[in-house]
Amino acid sequence: MFASGGGSNLQAILEHFDALGASAPARIALVLSDRKAAGALDRAKARGIPSIWLPRDRASEMLALLQQHAITHIALAGYLRLIPADVVRAYEGRMVNIHPALLPAFGGPGMYGHHVHEAVVASGARTTGPTVHWVSEHYDEGAIIEQAEVPVHPGDTAAQVSARVLEAEHALYPRVVESLCAGRLSRAGTAAESPPPP
Ligand code: GRF
Repeated sequence: MFASGGGSNLQAILEHFDALGASAPARIALVLSDRKAAGALDRAKARGIPSIWLPRDRASEMLALLQQHAITHIALAGYLRLIPADVVRAYEGRMVNIHPALLPAFGGPGMYGHHVHEAVVASGARTTGPTVHWVSEHYDEGAIIEQAEVPVHPGDTAAQVSARVLEAEHALYPRVVESLCAGRLSRAGTAAESPPPP
């Protein structure tokens, strides 16, 4: 998993795989962060999971690390850097991200963390929620795999919306990551790549 922040999604996935026990399709073998102080790295260390601070995003260095740790799939959760193109290509169909809004709305460069929820509240949207999507070479543009809707109530603050969306992320992401690692997700089967209606 790649993460720049607190790592609550990492925690949710770890707990989900724990609960699956022997039927878990994978284990978290590496946590990589561009931020030395990321809580995600601490959570990994506490579980004895290899954790690496990689402040540069050179594709060759990243690919070498991934190979060294025999990484088969990648889940991004709050990772704030663009993934180098060579890494995107190497993990085509094996790398997903979670975004805290209903893409294609409220996505793209600059749309991360509290910025997303502030924009949602300012827009007057009545619903929001996380999107899990394939990772492409552009921010938040890969085909959508699954979304979950949560309400935005009148008078909600961005912080209230953020907490509600995060709870939905923790229900959605572990399930999608499980499917990914179990080989149950196919790029062709995602909504954005289905053939157009006749
Ligand atoms: C989540 O809201 C995720 O959707 C976004 O960054 C946040 C990461 O939270 N991309 P955490 O580090 O998993 O707690």
